[in-house]
Amino acid sequence: MRIILGVSGSVAAYRACDLARELMRQGHQVRVCLTDSAQNFVTPALFEALTGQPCLVDTFDEPDRGRMAHIDWARAADLVLVAPATANTLAKLAHGVADDMLTTLAVASQAPLMVVPAMNPTMYSSPGVLQARGILMDRGAEWLEPSTGDVACGENGQGKFPPIEVIVHEVQEVLSRSNQLAGQTVLISSGPTQEPIDIARYLTNRSSGKMGAALARAALRMGARVIVVAGPQRARLPVEAEIIPVQTAIEMRDRMVEMAPGADWIVGVAAVADYRPASPSLGKIRRSSEPLQLELLPNPDVLAEAVAAARPGTRAIGFAAEVGDDPEVIAGKLERKNLSAIAINDVAGAETGFESETNQITLQFRDGERIASEKMSKSALARWLFEQALSRS
Ligand SMILES: Cc1cc2nc3c(=O)[nH]c(=O)nc-3n(C[C@H](O)[C@H](O)[C@H](O)COP(=O)(O)O)c2cc1C
Repeated sequence: MRIILGVSGSVAAYRACDLARELMRQGHQVRVCLTDSAQNFVTPALFEALTGQPCLVDTFDEPDRGRMAHIDWARAADLVLVAPATANTLAKLAHGVADDMLTTLAVASQAPLMVVPAMNPTMYSSPGVLQARGILMDRGAEWLEPSTGDVACGENGQGKFPPIEVIVHEVQEVLSRSNQLAGQTVLISSGPTQEPIDIARYLTNRSSGKMGAALARAALRMGARVIVVAGPQRARLPVEAEIIPVQTAIEMRDRMVEMAPGADWIVGVAAVADYRPASPSLGKIRRSSEPLQLELLPNPDVLAEAVAAARPGTRAIGFAAEVGDDPEVIAGKLERKNLSAIAINDVAGAETGFESETNQITLQFRDGERIASEKMSKSALARWLFEQALSRS
């Protein structure tokens, strides 16, 4: 595949050399475009030597005389990858500014856009960057979250350029669209639920919705129509998915049951609250020095009810947030909810489960067979899960 690698003026620009080499090792053609600022860190000559291709900087650079490079390269690209992407370049990409070669190429290309931000953590959490993130993701761009840790300026936080293998994996994911789920509808429940206590307060849990978003993206890349019944989650869902927002477990159950008859797959990854306050107050409960008792009622089993409403043959996969796991207990859940498989998620691990970027699951099928995944990014894991389930049909 043909990748345009845009490098902007981040201290992480030198990492783009290894990235270019690794992408080439995977069989891709890589053509590099630098911003002016990037030239303070790396040179066109370096990338030309590494890639064997001309490297563009100026909007009027024209390696093939008479052929406008910004159009030529943009048309030929299968992916525009901006890595590292500075706060400045991200803002320009979000607003369609085309005042240098890199941003002009991005505007001129219809290829998917993937950005890999790298910057100081304060910059990364600034309103302008957050707004650019929202705009680009709403437009369907792939936004790879930077890693958390010590950054070049000595601060600690989110903003580090991710490991090369993580970026390469994401690139492979975006480029390896398949039609394995073409013509099929995948219904996903995602995120936490919020159970009102009064008009200002609610009970909820730590689910970020990242795994649900990753499953939605993976199913879309495999050609499916995707419907997500989503609680109030922080992770952004892909724009190509049909999103049904809900707040409570009861709302989630109602919408899942309504959509289930049209689904070929049902994936229950939402962290549905087990209980809800019995009689939420219509006003705001006042503070007092007396203890407050909250009566809680059990919530419905959203996934079990959705599966019961589905057509025979619908494949149903549930996620079980377990601390440690017992195959007998899982087998019981499989039976009770009438599922094809359960993805057992150890939420006690630091790099697995709630809020983390990575995850590791064990899939247990109805016949008792179990397959454990490696620890990988949630998007890689989502693809793995669908492929495992498909390989058993
Ligand atoms: C030493 C140094 C390191 C920098 N590192 C970053 C960085 O990692 N991320 C970022 O967004 N900006 C960084 N900047 C600021 C950008 O280079 C600056 O905003 C520039 O205008 C970006 O231009 P470009 O987006 O066209 O490359 C750095 C600046 C300097 C002087």
